[in-house]
Amino acid sequence: MSRVAYVNGRYLKLSEAAVNVEDRGYQFADGIYEVIHVFDGRLIDAERHLERLARSLRELRLPAPMGAAPLLRVIAEVARRNRVREGLIYMQVTRGVARRDHAFPNPAVPPALVVTARRTPPFPASAAANAVAAITQRDQRWARCDIKTVGLTANVLAKQAAREAGAAEAIQYDADGMVTEGASSNVWIVDAAGHLRTRELSDAILPGCTRAALIGLLDGTGVTLDERAFSLAELRAAREIFVTSATSFVKPVIRLDGTAVGDGTVGPVTAALFDRFAAHVRGDGRNAR
Ligand SMILES: Cc1ncc(COP(=O)(O)O)c(C=O)c1O
Repeated sequence: MSRVAYVNGRYLKLSEAAVNVEDRGYQFADGIYEVIHVFDGRLIDAERHLERLARSLRELRLPAPMGAAPLLRVIAEVARRNRVREGLIYMQVTRGVARRDHAFPNPAVPPALVVTARRTPPFPASAAANAVAAITQRDQRWARCDIKTVGLTANVLAKQAAREAGAAEAIQYDADGMVTEGASSNVWIVDAAGHLRTRELSDAILPGCTRAALIGLLDGTGVTLDERAFSLAELRAAREIFVTSATSFVKPVIRLDGTAVGDGTVGPVTAALFDRFAAHVRGDGRNAR
């Protein structure tokens, strides 16, 4: 079965789908994107992702290519045509096609919308099965990391550094030695005093939909969250570390820069939150459509 992409109003074979060389996403990374997890044919945390998409569009002064309802129909159709019951939806909006000039096209051109879908490996059976190693890396990104733009060069370099070190994620830190986030995830620790911590929202990190969903799922777990930035030293001293994203869920980090985190196995808080999030994905699918 060949994969299918939605490109500006048409469903095309992926091998034949293409955008113009003067698309501003290609020329300037002048665009934004979203990734949504599909489980059992449902979109997980869809409302949060569509709200963030709308926010990213506003922040870049990009017009919406279509409303939320038609967009959900396109997403469902792309998932159906690609027979994705478990996987991910990728969508991208750019400022469209115009003769190369940094300022916005004048007169404006329609934004370009691409939606693709692909299958992913089955949801991990346990927290331990989802555990990885990470490295630390100086954050080299721009000053608006709260916007999900397609300008990901620094993230690409950070992720490649992780891969070359035999790790899955690069945990980034700023000029003050404070942890920002992963190359494609938010970062959480159980600090040396036993408190669950994740950095507060600001322009230094992406407001992760998984982060928000997990905060909403803490009720009744007995775990309280201290939404407060932590330093690289606190990261190294942490009892537990995990990262979150729509496609990695609650992902334990059991080695950091080649050294075991805690005793090198998944800690109890991380394991409990993995299970809690798994129940959210498998069970109620809150915000799912
Ligand atoms: C830089 C960055 N931070 C955080 C996240 C996590 O966001 P979400 O949970 O919405 O996938 C991502 C997701 O790809 C990301 O790229």
